Amino acid sequence: MIDPKSYIEEHKERLLEELFSLLQIPSVSADPAYKDQVLEGAQSVAQFLSAAGLENTKIHSTQGHPIVYADKIINPELPTVLVYGHYDVQPPDPIDLWDSEPFNPVIKETEIHPEGAIFARGACDDKGQMFMHIKAIEYLIQTDQLPCNVKFMIEGEEEVGSNNLVPFVKENKALLENDVILISDTGMIAKDTPSITTGLRGLSYVEVCVTGPNRDLHSGLYGGAVANPINILSKMIASLHDQDNRICIPGFYDRVEELSAAERAAMAKAPFNLSDYEKALDIESVYGEKDYSTNERNSIRPTLDVNGIWGGYIGEGAKTVIPSKAYAKISMRLVPNQNWEEITQLFKSHFESIAPKGVRVSVTPHHGGQGYVTPTHHRGYMAAAAAYKQSFGKEPIPQRSGGSIPIVALFEEVLGSKSVLMGFGLDSDAIHSPNEHFGVWNYLKGIETIPYFYEHFTALNS
Ligand code: BES
Ligand code: MN
Ligand code: MN
Repeated sequence: MIDPKSYIEEHKERLLEELFSLLQIPSVSADPAYKDQVLEGAQSVAQFLSAAGLENTKIHSTQGHPIVYADKIINPELPTVLVYGHYDVQPPDPIDLWDSEPFNPVIKETEIHPEGAIFARGACDDKGQMFMHIKAIEYLIQTDQLPCNVKFMIEGEEEVGSNNLVPFVKENKALLENDVILISDTGMIAKDTPSITTGLRGLSYVEVCVTGPNRDLHSGLYGGAVANPINILSKMIASLHDQDNRICIPGFYDRVEELSAAERAAMAKAPFNLSDYEKALDIESVYGEKDYSTNERNSIRPTLDVNGIWGGYIGEGAKTVIPSKAYAKISMRLVPNQNWEEITQLFKSHFESIAPKGVRVSVTPHHGGQGYVTPTHHRGYMAAAAAYKQSFGKEPIPQRSGGSIPIVALFEEVLGSKSVLMGFGLDSDAIHSPNEHFGVWNYLKGIETIPYFYEHFTALNS
């Protein structure tokens, strides 16, 4: 293989400029006001796929945002890699907390990224990481070295639950047939510690509403005599965890996969510095489930978190009022074997059962998905490990992530294939937060490592 490093060095400016042009498009999938810009994002991705040398590029419209497909089939006898990624991004809010414009990418140096990092919404999640694949394939095609078949499927609704990708995958099984799915939408431990994500958590997301009296009341005239929905909701939420920070929903842990002592010992070997972790977050101490380490708590253990809570008067000054309603959005991160629909039901029954007389409670499920695991003996994992070895000079560490990409479990169910999660982002890259960024070094390292994956995966299959 011709060294991808010299190609990257030669084209470095263009590799950055092209990514910048994609980052300038505010493809926010959650907000209907950005519908046209999301479409523009899809068109830009389609153009870059064709320009890289891929064929059959098509923008599939859906009931929501479009899905971009392209492929290059060089020989049906050879293995096929399906690349998945997303061009939609999270809303940039709160905008005030950005040091630069979220859709006007700039390169700035940081302590962790002395070579510079690209600051923009989507820089890391997932435009930057998805773009590495387009550029890696461009390199392979343009230098006549593509060793196997490749298909791309880039969606525009990952950040809102991939609702329209589900029927698309089910209806296009033949089109999407593959030997492995390759995704860069996760992270790695550190720049000098390559890692491959071997697991994702599942998710159950619900919204709850507690209703008390039929209207907001004077808190003096009625206070003490009727249930205050915010007081009640707070009590109910507080009761969902016990003293040891375990979740108190009957049946919640029934299917949780318990890792063996050996697996936990292997996990504990990954480099991790607790005081650096606490310092980076400006907290005195970590907090979580008793008898589990921080890395276990945020990857192999399920969680329940309130994401937002509102009700009553929150304007300037004071208003003496007992609100009629109180709301919260609650997410549960799930681990392999837990079924998100079952967990949603368990939550609903439990939450309704703990409501005291005097209020009514409703639970509305939002979306969810199953957890996922890639075994380290899978050919895809082995090819990825060999690729990292080649570009980093080090064996990568397998690591389960706490994040979720719900469609990955569905890929396995419907297409029968495993996904390999080659993430190049860092936890400190602030995805979903103000000042999201992606290291220039990480971006280029990804473009260098991905071609090796194709080479090793093809070799392992022959
Ligand atoms: N790319 C992330 C997921 C991720 C990030 C996994 C880092 C592992 C490491 C993805 O775009 C995302 O944000 N997923 C959502 C779920 C989705 C249904 C909105 C999440 O994890 O909250
Ligand atoms: Mn993502
Ligand atoms: Mn995301």
